[in-house]
Amino acid sequence: MKVTVVGAGNVGATCADVIAQRELANEVVLLDIKENFAEGKALDIWQTAPINLYDSRTVGSTNDYSKTANSEVVVITSGLPRKPGMTRDDLIATNAGIVRTVTEQVIKYSPNAKIIIVSNPLDVMTYCAYLTAKIDSSRVFGMAGILDTARYRAFLATELNCSPKDIQAVLMGGHGDTMVPLPRYTTVGGIPVTELIAKDRLDAIIDRTKKGGGEIVNLLGTSAWYAPGAAAAQMVEAIVRDQKRIFPVCAMLNGEYGMKDIFLGVPVKLGKNGIEQIIELKLNDDEKALLDASAKAVKEVMDVLDNMGAAV
Ligand code: LAC
Repeated sequence: MKVTVVGAGNVGATCADVIAQRELANEVVLLDIKENFAEGKALDIWQTAPINLYDSRTVGSTNDYSKTANSEVVVITSGLPRKPGMTRDDLIATNAGIVRTVTEQVIKYSPNAKIIIVSNPLDVMTYCAYLTAKIDSSRVFGMAGILDTARYRAFLATELNCSPKDIQAVLMGGHGDTMVPLPRYTTVGGIPVTELIAKDRLDAIIDRTKKGGGEIVNLLGTSAWYAPGAAAAQMVEAIVRDQKRIFPVCAMLNGEYGMKDIFLGVPVKLGKNGIEQIIELKLNDDEKALLDASAKAVKEVMDVLDNMGAAV
């Protein structure tokens, strides 16, 4: 089985590394437009195999998509990352052109692949890939919810001084400051988080989660990669091992939550066919209002993309 990661930057290389270490595919193709870049990263990753004791072979390619042919899953990380002071939406024109070109090549060589988008602005780049790939929306979706939920769970584990393994949470909406962490669906070892933490502390953690990507951009001068790369690899694992895991994923809605023709983070079941089910939670009025506000913000950027037409 082959898995391809397009974009050998920090996120793509980290993702390929995790996929290889977990032996999720016997061949991991890392592709980049920059001459020799993916080859170099792939060789370095492959040379960890005798140390970390795994068999998956990572190979690099400079823009030769024939090497990606018949991939089971393709992760697209291509595009510019954020710099301090930029929102994810500032990247739209540049990254839409890149995502469109990449998706055309990916689908040409792997018409049956499941496609995971990681490029920003995430929800709109997933929409862009969907328009380009012209495949069922169960096979093209975006990685954001696992990352955002991981940040939320990590902050909670720090606050409660407990294992992050025991923290379960649902987070919905767009991958931006309007994302909607749901305390009512957050548990620690099965205990509702609201029984363990005061409201003001929980509110502060939710606020920090919403700005979690920006916090790292401000610290590093570029966007994060360890957690985004690992999160995308976890989606690959759910697909190639047909785990049917329940994750928040950026998915196209067809009437769920009363919305249509929008890509938004919602809990889904992820297995060998891609998105096998979209799970509809019974949100209360406050939660629904937050989700609607997030959907409105995403739709505005989707409209920007639509209005660009062939210009990107
Ligand atoms: C982040 C970027 C990857 O949230 O969107 O870190």
